[in-house]
Amino acid sequence: MEIKLNSPLDMHLHLRDGEMLGLTVPSSSKTFSGALVMPNLTPPLTSASSVLEYSGRIKEHSSGDVFTPYMTLFFKNSYTREFLHDIKDKILAVKLYTAGATTNSEDGISLPIGDDTLEVIGMLEELGIPLSVHGETTGFVLERETEFAAAYDELASSFPKLKIVMEHITTTTLAELLGRRENLFATITLHHLLITLDDVIGGALSPHNFCKPVAKSPRDREALRHLALSAHPKVMFGSDSAPHPRDKKESCCGAAGIFHAPFALQLLATIFEGAGKLENLQGFVSDNARAIYDIDPPPKTVVLEKKPFTIPKTCGGVVPFLGGSTLEWSIKEVS
Ligand code: DOR
Ligand code: ZN
Repeated sequence: MEIKLNSPLDMHLHLRDGEMLGLTVPSSSKTFSGALVMPNLTPPLTSASSVLEYSGRIKEHSSGDVFTPYMTLFFKNSYTREFLHDIKDKILAVKLYTAGATTNSEDGISLPIGDDTLEVIGMLEELGIPLSVHGETTGFVLERETEFAAAYDELASSFPKLKIVMEHITTTTLAELLGRRENLFATITLHHLLITLDDVIGGALSPHNFCKPVAKSPRDREALRHLALSAHPKVMFGSDSAPHPRDKKESCCGAAGIFHAPFALQLLATIFEGAGKLENLQGFVSDNARAIYDIDPPPKTVVLEKKPFTIPKTCGGVVPFLGGSTLEWSIKEVS
């Protein structure tokens, strides 16, 4: 059995910087046609020059592959209309983090959302720049996303022309909110389709399954699977592949982030075929994103075949998600 995917897209990806680009960029550029690149570097991407230079470094590492890095800018309250107007054609979205919600988010905004933040969000609406959001409060860890739902709802109604992407949703609350506001969209990761909190702390502590937002209950996972497997038109694949070196994960203060970009399509094919929904994979992994972001990614055809493939136990110093396990699908050909 085979499946052919046209221009797969990963609409939420962490590529890091420096030496790590040698691992991360080819991991995605070999099989994906493009990816939305997150700006939470140290320091975060907050200027046109930093975005352009970073995009250049990514392109150097992907040379030979057909791959478009769609860039993002780290949201700051200090942006002016003029600055956003000038940077508009260099980015696909502005990414808003709440301060302290995740890795390198210290420069994010504080809650409740203040007037200075709303003013900049208004400029994004006016300029037609989508807003990508890490929507978590800093409250009790399992409630953080649900606590942020009211903010999403308010933003969506206050800025009806603004496209708001709720990144890596993990709860039934946000799955339901998606249907209530026309301008709300969402990404769903790979790992949240597979794991629950039990896979992180239910048995032995599993640092390689630890991410933000943390995986939730089986019921929440079911709501996400329902959206993804039906290729709900407001939902896109965003792997949130976010590598950290092994010693930073297996540590007394382990970093949040799961790495699976090189095996994302093999994993997705295994999940979709397992659920009898292989025909919806193209929508989830490409078509929906093209429509939502109005992008035309470079042509790339990926053929997957039903043939066992074993995920390596390490990749360049990073322990990948499900390392050592065998999947039912492999990449046959990329053209
Ligand atoms: O688990 C995560 N890791 N979640 C995020 O939102 C950020 C990411 C990272 O950059 O490591
Ligand atoms: Zn992320």
